[in-house]
This record gives sequence, C-alpha cells and structure tokens, in this order.
Amino acid sequence: MPISIDGNLFSLSTQDTLYQMQVDEYGILNHLWYGPKTGMSMSYLNQYPEISFSGSLADTGTRRDYSLNDRPLEYAEGGMTDYRTPALRIVHPDGSSALDLRYAGYEVLNHKPGIAHLPASFDRSLQTPTLKITLKDALYPIFVHLYYNAFEKENVIARSVEIENNTDHILSLDKFSSLCLDLPDGDLEVLHFHGRHAMERLKERLPLGFGTFRFESRRGNSSHQHNPAVILAAPHTDESHGACYGACLLYSGCYQVEVQKDQLEQIRLVMGLEESTFHWKLKPQATFHSPEALLSYSNQGFEKLSHQFHDMFREHVIRSTFVHRPRPVLINNWEATYFDFNGQKLIEIADSAKECGIDLFVLDDGWFGNRNSDTESLGDWHVNEEKLGMPLADLSKAIHDRQMQFGLWIEPEMVSEDSDLFRTHPEWVLWIPGRYPSRSRHQLVLDLGNPEVVEYLYQTFSKLIRENSVDYIKWDMNRSISDFYSSYLPEQRQGELAHRYMLGVYELADRLTTEFPEVLFEGCAGGGGRFDGGMLYYFPQYWCSDNTDAHCRTQIQYGTSFFYPISSVGSHVSAVPNHQTGRVTSLKTRGTVAMAGTFGYELDLTLLSPEQREEVRQQVQTYKTLQPLIFDGDYYRLSDPFDHDLAAWSFVSKDGLQILVQSVIYEQKPNVRFPRIQLRGLKRDVWYKQLDTGNVYTGAALMDGGLLLDLPQGTDSSQTLQFVRMDQEETSE
Ligand code: GLA
Repeated sequence: MPISIDGNLFSLSTQDTLYQMQVDEYGILNHLWYGPKTGMSMSYLNQYPEISFSGSLADTGTRRDYSLNDRPLEYAEGGMTDYRTPALRIVHPDGSSALDLRYAGYEVLNHKPGIAHLPASFDRSLQTPTLKITLKDALYPIFVHLYYNAFEKENVIARSVEIENNTDHILSLDKFSSLCLDLPDGDLEVLHFHGRHAMERLKERLPLGFGTFRFESRRGNSSHQHNPAVILAAPHTDESHGACYGACLLYSGCYQVEVQKDQLEQIRLVMGLEESTFHWKLKPQATFHSPEALLSYSNQGFEKLSHQFHDMFREHVIRSTFVHRPRPVLINNWEATYFDFNGQKLIEIADSAKECGIDLFVLDDGWFGNRNSDTESLGDWHVNEEKLGMPLADLSKAIHDRQMQFGLWIEPEMVSEDSDLFRTHPEWVLWIPGRYPSRSRHQLVLDLGNPEVVEYLYQTFSKLIRENSVDYIKWDMNRSISDFYSSYLPEQRQGELAHRYMLGVYELADRLTTEFPEVLFEGCAGGGGRFDGGMLYYFPQYWCSDNTDAHCRTQIQYGTSFFYPISSVGSHVSAVPNHQTGRVTSLKTRGTVAMAGTFGYELDLTLLSPEQREEVRQQVQTYKTLQPLIFDGDYYRLSDPFDHDLAAWSFVSKDGLQILVQSVIYEQKPNVRFPRIQLRGLKRDVWYKQLDTGNVYTGAALMDGGLLLDLPQGTDSSQTLQFVRMDQEETSE
C-alpha cells in the first residue's frame, strides 16, 4: 500500500523508498524519514538533547529537550522558535506574522485530483491515492493542507500545499513553498543546473557549508540561468553508487530553492514561489494552492534517480498524447533564412527536406505583420502575404501536398511597440505608471494576468491553427519579464502579478492543447529558458537551447538529462560554421548529437552537396528506426563532458534487448590509447552482439572492461554503435 496510517504515524511507500511523518504529543507534524525502506517506524531517531538557545513552545512547559528549532518539521511555519528557513510566511491584520501549525486531521482520497489552474502529475489509471494532512493555526482558523502521492513504480513522491483562510480578514501571503524537507544528515553536496542563454543547465556540484545555499528566478520564467530542480547527494555519489535526493518543481515562473545547513548539521530543503515577487492577498474563505513538487530518492546513484524522473515525466507529467507516439523529424527554416525568405524559398527547403525523408516543415519567425527583423510586429498574427507571396493556408496546402506536415512559430506572450496590437491596446502591456518600460529584444510583455488578454490570445491562435491546418506549433518566449505592473489589477494585488502571469500562460496552453490534441506543441524560450516540468505538462517537447553547436550541445543535453526525459529534448542539426560558436563539426557528429533528442534540421538543405544530402537521408532513416529506443529506453550518461574531452551516452530498451551507444570526442591527442567507455544497464552473464562488426561480448565485459572507441584521428569524431542481447543458447559455444 502506498499510504499507510498507524495512529499518529503516516508512511508513504514506493517500490524502494519510504517517506514517514509523525504527529507528536503537541500536535506538531515531524518529518521522520525519507530514504530506503526500513520496515518500521523511524521515530526512535527523533530524539534530541537539550540544545541551548533553542526556545520551547508554551505548551511544552518546563521541558528543555523539545524545540522546533531542532526537530525535523514537515512544513516549517516560522515565528515560533524555529529560526531556520520557513516554508511559508503570512502577515495577519495585526501585523504579526507567526503561525503555530498543529495537526488537525487527515483524509485519504482514492485518486489523485489535479490542481486547479496549475500543471500537476496525474495517474491515468486512477490508481494513485492521495494523502491530505491538515494543519491548523493554534489561534486563527487558518488551515494548511499538505498533499502527498506516492508513485510506486517510479519511486516519486508528489507534494503540494494549499492554504485556506477561514478568518474574516484578508491575509497577506508573502512566502509559500511547495515542499519543505528536513534531512538529519548534513554531510550532503548540492548539484544544481545553472547557465545562461545558449548555455543552459550546466551542472555544478558543491559541498554544503553552514548557512543557506539559494538560487532562484525573478525573471517571470524559470529561466536559462537556473533550472527549478536540485539534487542533494552524499559525497562520492556517482552515476551508479551512492545516495541522492532529487527535487523539481512543476512550475515555470519565479521560484526559489533554499538549502540550509543548520547548527546541528541538519539540512532543510525548501522549494516554492520566489518570495520577493510573490505577495498574495488571501481573502476570507479563499484558498491558495502551491505548484507541485516532485521528490525522488536513489541509493544507486544519479542514473537511477534520472530514470525515476524520466519515467515519472513520461508516464505521469507529460499529458500530451504524443508522449509515446512516433514524432516527426522536422526541418526548421530559422537558421536557414532568419527573416529573409519568401514562399518560394520555403517550398524549396521543404522539397529538399522531403527528398531526405523529413516529415514536418516548420516556418519560424518572420511570417506575420511586417516582421522583417526582431524590432517589429509581435502581436500582429496575420500573415504577411506580400512577403510570402501567398496566403498562409496556401503555403500549408503546398506543404501538405508534398505529404509533409506544416508547423508554425508563434510568440503569444509578447508585443512589439511597432504593432497594431500595441497601438490598439497599450493597456495590455506590463508597464509601471510613470516609468518607461524596459525592453529586451525590442519587445514588451503582454499582461497574461488579465483574462481579457488570455481570451484574445486564445481566439487569435485557435483561429490561426484551425484556418491553416497547422500540425505543429513552436511556442516561443523571448525575454525575461520586468516592470511587473498590471493595469488590470488593483494596487494591493500587484504583488500577485508574477504568479497570475503564469496562471494566464497555463490557461492559454491548456485551452489550445486541449482543443488541438493532434497538434504537436514544442515549447521554447530563447531556447531552453523555460525548460521545466510545468511546461512539459502541456508540451511534450521543448527546444533545449539556441546553441546547436554539437560540442556545447553534449554539455547542455547532459545537464538536461538529470531530470528531463530525452523524448522532451528538442535537438537539431544546424549549419557550419556554427552560428553560435563558429565551430565546424562534421555532419556525422552533428547528427549523432541531435539524435539524443527529438531530432530535426535547421539549415538550408538546398545548399548541401548531393553526398551530404544522402548522408542526411541516411541519418533520418537511422533516427526513425532508433526513435522508440531513444524515447522509451533508459538513458545512461557514460561520461561527464565537463571533465573529459569525450561525451558518451547510451540507451537500453526497457526489455534489455537493444542497446545504442553514442559518443563524441572533442579533441584527439597524438600517441594516446583508444578512449574506453564502460557500458551500464546490461546483464552481466548475458552475451551481446555488436551489429556492425558481429563481435560478441558478455555484459560483464562491456560494463567492467568496456569498449575501445576506434575513433578516427583528428578532432571531432563521433560514433553510433548498436548492440542486441543474444539468447542464452546462441551464446553458449
Ligand atoms: C528564439 C528561438 C529561436 C528562433 C528565434 C526566432 O531565439 O529560440 O529558435 O525561433 O527566437 O526569433
């Protein structure tokens, strides 16, 4: 049973993990355990001696060995002697901000409900029950409901929190977190994924010192700079050994992550809405629900943790019907033409793509209004017929006539000052009265906190998709948000805007993806600036980065793979010299790297030689046969591309029968041995056959001895190897 309740002890079990909480004699909900299954209550560990300068609750009387400041708390409220980072903060009408949350009851629902207006994990089979534990403030009728689900097979705990104001006054909610996790063992390291535009999700691993390690986004999106996900790991944890906890938010707006090591060397992890951009007025009788957070634990290193998250995303987060369906190989015209194209040129590109077996033609930025540069026309979502030389529906038809699908780029959330939309509705823009709004890429941000704007965008884009038989949408978002002010909201509610903006984005995404389940949506925010669990709920794939340089991409895709499944990683082959780095890599290497994702091309295929086009045709064919293994298999990081000149990874099908190994070497040095990679995820005593050579190896040999990569000399070589698992009989001689 994933949920069991024994008196005051609450246990959530997954296949390999146990999460335990207990209500103590004062009604405080203590966190007892998160880790491997132990088969018993872990309450015996929850004892503390007297610690100086740790105050006591009034009702503990003269007892000096009980303080909230020491104990592992399930949802830390602050203000009542716990001096550590609180998970929430409210301000009462009298100006005080303490909460004294005591246990008030629980409920078990036999299914997992969604969270209104927010993305949340789900169970299509309705087999996952929900534990709801309610805490109540000792003074006021303020309730905090903690929601838990244990996804057994995936070893994931989903958590969210709801606050209910049953007082007759308005509360100011100034901090609200999706999860608080107190861990008794302070000897942990933190892994986080930082970056910048065109270099997202770079892994950094740091020891945790005393105090608080914090990262966040205040940019209105989850950002290129820091992904809303974190790993806490025992020292020496590597890909296949050691204990680690992973946590990620299903949220795409301003968020924060705090990891605090206290005086007793205990760790508290708090994740939720970013507090400087969140001030919510909670009216009497109103509730507020946090975004959901996912937690997972592995005592077999990072790869098991990643497999758990990948399975969770594929089975219980990405709701699109495309999640397990074959996805089209695409050609996108952005790096081929930028803004400089006409209908004829696009059709030529589509024709050359068709010859190579490509399924989907995507028309990127520049097809609407007077959009010939990034300074104008965002918001004017009607086709520029003069530029295209035909109506959009005719281009769509021309593409469909070639037995290809038709895709379109849009950027719904933005507006150019030079646009009819801005001239008609200046009040729809985020703009602080009396100030001149800041620009980024020359654009301003529409107020998606205003339902009228969301409705307008829904009408505009649903019509566009319908009237032009669009099969694929690339939804872009090309600036960080600033100037948070909405002319729609009253003064006292401006602090709600950052979150309300996200609710507007989610509503628009929800309505469009619900109305068009057969349209494939790919998210994008200047590449991977909003690549997070919230967006993946709506969009099964996300443009991973504007950086298509094969070498940089191995690092970006490596970092992305810690949480997000490979089937969500938008990855393309682009032209050389690469437009972001100037580097020249072979077509083979670019193809190898782009195959670890949704695969496509972003270059002018008409400029390639016949031999190169033939190579593209073969890559497309190879990818199509490999896509099921890449999308649904288990992914292994076989090297750390930040430490070595070698990037290597593999996929092992869930039934263990097929293995794909891919590697890229950035730089070869003279007179060195062949690089060697050790495979993982194989059966030790089973034989495997390498498809191109027919050589056979035991799983033990491939994992312990490894493979020598016979890569040609020179820089920039890559290799794709396939193995199949052989029957026992076949291998015995
Ligand atoms: C962003 C995207 C690119 C491209 C351009 C178009 O930068 O990440 O892929 O669509 O916008 O303006």
